[in-house]
Amino acid sequence: MLRKTLLWSVLVVTLLPYAHAQDSVRNVELLASSCAACHGTNGHSVGGTPSLAGLASAHIIEQMRQFIDGERPSTVMLHHASAYTIEEIELMADYFSKQK
Ligand code: HEC
Repeated sequence: MLRKTLLWSVLVVTLLPYAHAQDSVRNVELLASSCAACHGTNGHSVGGTPSLAGLASAHIIEQMRQFIDGERPSTVMLHHASAYTIEEIELMADYFSKQK
């Protein structure tokens, strides 16, 4: 009985980080999909809006910060950038930077 409990604890501890990683992948796709209306699917813009795909993640994070602080004037990005936490912005920046 004790062995079984131990085995389960080991399993849970080993698999938990994996479950978290999966969650953040799913979440970042969901987060990024809200940018698609203007920046295109996975950041591949087809209109006049800048493409996000393949931009350096540091560049994306810096632009988002500037939109939020009002340092960079924007038409709509102030509202979009302000809706996210820094963790979410970092996740999205990393995601878009890896799109080819
Ligand atoms: C309603 C349309 C719209 C949505 C939705 C939108 N954006 Fe934008 N984005 C723009 C426009 C337009 C610009 C150009 C600056 C401006 O006028 O606001 C821009 C600029 C940017 C830039 C600067 C790019 C550069 O290289 O200078 C980044 C980064 C960015 N958006 C990220 C995002 C992210 C991340 C999301 C989703 C959370 C998002 N945007 C959602 C319209 C949008």
